[in-house]
This record gives sequence, structure tokens and C-alpha cells, in this order.
Amino acid sequence: MELILDRLTKQYHNKIAVDCISLNLHKGVYGLLGANGAGKTTLMRIICGVLKADSGTVTYDGVDVSSEAYRAKLGYLPQDFGYYPDFTGMDFLIYMAALKGLTKIQAKRKANELLELVSLKEEAHKKIKKYSGGMKQRLGIAQALLNNPQILILDEPTAGLDPKERVRFRNIIAKIGKENIVILSTHIVSDIEHIADTVLMMKDGRLIYQGKWQEKSGDLEEFYLKQFEED
Ligand SMILES: Nc1ncnc2c1ncn2[C@@H]1O[C@H](COP(=O)(O)OP(=O)(O)OP(=O)(O)O)[C@@H](O)[C@H]1O
Ligand SMILES: [Mg+2]
Repeated sequence: MELILDRLTKQYHNKIAVDCISLNLHKGVYGLLGANGAGKTTLMRIICGVLKADSGTVTYDGVDVSSEAYRAKLGYLPQDFGYYPDFTGMDFLIYMAALKGLTKIQAKRKANELLELVSLKEEAHKKIKKYSGGMKQRLGIAQALLNNPQILILDEPTAGLDPKERVRFRNIIAKIGKENIVILSTHIVSDIEHIADTVLMMKDGRLIYQGKWQEKSGDLEEFYLKQFEED
């Protein structure tokens, strides 16, 4: 199980959003930190095949990001997730499951399991437009898990979660990260301390730090702020 990013670069007009990033990822939870505009979302979209890099490659066990086989192993929660307001949570998961190729029976079973997992069982038949921000976020996390992804990419998954759900989320992710590759971005340094095995820090499109968070234990926030001091 190896996800290889090889010299990924992406430029928008005169702005280099991702600047020659190379990285080998194995199972575990990776926490991506960086200021607004550092390039986290751009990098994640490239890893998900939603955005094509100008140069460089993404491969998972030798399979290219552009292939169907890669997509089948991928789960993705985008930063700006488009919901269908008139769908219920259950409708939405069944619909997403169909897009991912699950059969009707599989979809129903998986949707129930995931709604339970993200504490939305009671709200399963409520329209999404009536959900709170945190409930929508949890539904977004649930849809990313429909196909039991080996590569799970979550762009600011904890945004809007209350403390109880945040803890619940950490436990879910820790479990998934034992057997799979999880990359999540966050602005909350304590999220990283509690969830991530490895810290990835981005600045101006570059990877400026990569390592076990324990090495920075206690002062990760201080370390982070130092990297962005002059901004
Ligand atoms: N579609 C686009 N067109 C032009 N520039 C873009 C586009 N998307 C992103 N950028 C620029 O690329 C850079 C990286 O943006 P990106 O969204 O990847 O950052 P981020 O680290 O996810 O930030 P945030 O923490 O705010 O989510 C920024 O300078 C941004 O303005
Ligand atoms: Mg972003």
C-alpha cells in the first residue's frame, strides 16, 4: 500500500499553488497544516484526480490517479461540498452510493451503517436543508466512506463539528487509519495532535515539514506559528 506523489506542480496564472511536491505515503493518518492559500486544497484535489497537475504524477501501488481502478479506492470530502437541499441524508447517501457503483442492497446497508457511525440516524429522513452545518459536515464524511476507501482525503473535515462530534470523528479516523491512508487538512493544531500520525506542513505550495507529530509534541502550535511568523 503506497501512494506516491512525484514532483507535483500546479500553477494558476502567475501563482504557483503546488510547487514540486514529492511524497510517499503509507497507511496511517496524515495531518496537513498550512495557512489560508498554502495550497492544501489544490494538492488534495490533485491527489483525488479532480484537478490535473501541470506536471508530476500520482500513483497508488503503480496505478495512475486518472484510472477507474484508482477512483474505486478513493474517498473524498471536498472543502466546499455541494449538497442537495431537498434530499434527505439517506437519499443523498443512496444516491452517492449509486454513483460509486454499489448495488441497491449494498447501498441501503452501507448508508444505515454510516448514518449510525456519524450520529445521524435520527436525522436520516430529514431534508438536508434542515440540517445544521455540523450535521452536513458529518454527512459529507459519511459519503466519503461509502466505498471503504483505501485512500481517504478529507479537506477540513472537522470544520463546524462540536467537541463531542470532534472526539467521535477522531476515533473513527484513528480506526480507519490503521489499515488505510488518510490525509486530512485542518487549521486546528490540536486536531493534528490528537489524530495524525504524521504532520505535513505546507507553505507557499511547498512541503516545509514532514514528520511524526510526537517530535513536536507540546509545541506544535508554537512550531507552526514560527513557520508563518513573517506573514
Ligand atoms: N481556481 C483557482 N484559480 C486561481 N487561483 C486559485 C484557484 N484555486 C486556488 N487558487 C490559488 O492557489 C493558492 C492555493 O489555494 P488553496 O485553495 O489550495 O489553499 P488552501 O491551503 O487550501 O487554503 P485554505 O486554508 O484557505 O483552504 C491560493 O493562492 C489561491 O488563491
Ligand atoms: Mg483549502
